[in-house]
Amino acid sequence: GLVNSRELFKKAVQGGYAIPAYNFNNLEQLQAIIMACVETGSPVILQVSKGARNYANQTLLRHLAQGAVEYAAELGHAIPIVLHLDHGDSFELCKDCIETGFSSVMIDGSHLSYEENVKLTRQVVEYAHQFDVTVEGELGVLAGIEDEVSAETHTYTQPDEVEDFVSKTGVDSLAISIGTSHGAFKFKPGEDPKIRLDILAEIERRIPGFPIVLHGSSSVPQELVRIINEHGGKLKDAIGISEEQLREAAKSAVCKINIDSDGRLAMTAAIRKVLDEKPEEFDPRKYLGPARDSLKELYKHKNIHVLGSNDQA
Ligand code: G3H
Ligand code: 13P
Ligand code: NA
Ligand code: ZN
Repeated sequence: GLVNSRELFKKAVQGGYAIPAYNFNNLEQLQAIIMACVETGSPVILQVSKGARNYANQTLLRHLAQGAVEYAAELGHAIPIVLHLDHGDSFELCKDCIETGFSSVMIDGSHLSYEENVKLTRQVVEYAHQFDVTVEGELGVLAGIEDEVSAETHTYTQPDEVEDFVSKTGVDSLAISIGTSHGAFKFKPGEDPKIRLDILAEIERRIPGFPIVLHGSSSVPQELVRIINEHGGKLKDAIGISEEQLREAAKSAVCKINIDSDGRLAMTAAIRKVLDEKPEEFDPRKYLGPARDSLKELYKHKNIHVLGSNDQA
């Protein structure tokens, strides 16, 4: 069955790599994630956002994720699979996911006051741990857009707060803000976005070996943006976080890296290309199939060259 993230994080922190956390909303995305992780021998965290729940129905997504455990074994490698709620925004939402079979949840109280964040996160942890469900909390606010929330600038995590936060809440992992950003329009071309590895190092000094999570870790591959715009798309120019910096971060206690936007770009590029070049196609399999292939290649690349999670399952 599905597993929680505890053992995976322990091994990842010790081994100097990170577990991929990929969002999914539909069958083809899930298939691509599982195929890529089976072929590279990587554990995986399947993420369902609130938006994904509303779009695809939580019950269907959960059954897909549970089915993925069997599917991976059929493909030849029973990799560990976590089903995780991404950016849970209330105790009730987390409770509902815990009761219906998610093995991990995030409670994102990062926009609250410190005291409110501690209180809410602790409430979720106390509930979740009764069911052996792991909990991710967050301190600091990322720039960018996620669900309905958006922020213009980074509010970096304060290293001074992390020790108190993890001990008061009992969280299993901590998402931090050190310069990554949500969405496909993170930074303008010409900017030189840097992950603040110095803040990360200071956080690690306060809570040695504690599992750290990076959100907003898409790199916005320029080739994908180019293909989309060559085939009728109108994406504005933007760049993401370099894969080299993420690889560097993955060697530390960063043990979960969230990537969603790059998958959206890969899928859209493949679909636009097929529909542009073969306007006679109308069978969804003829464009969703190539989209799935392209997603799978993207995820394999991430596992091997960014996360370093290959051959760890
Ligand atoms: O951080 C947000 C994730 O990319 C999920 O996005 O809320 O549009 O499903 P979503
Ligand atoms: P990206 O938008 O950079 O892919 O980040 C995804 C994320 O953080 C999901 O929680
Ligand atoms: Na790591
Ligand atoms: Zn996120």
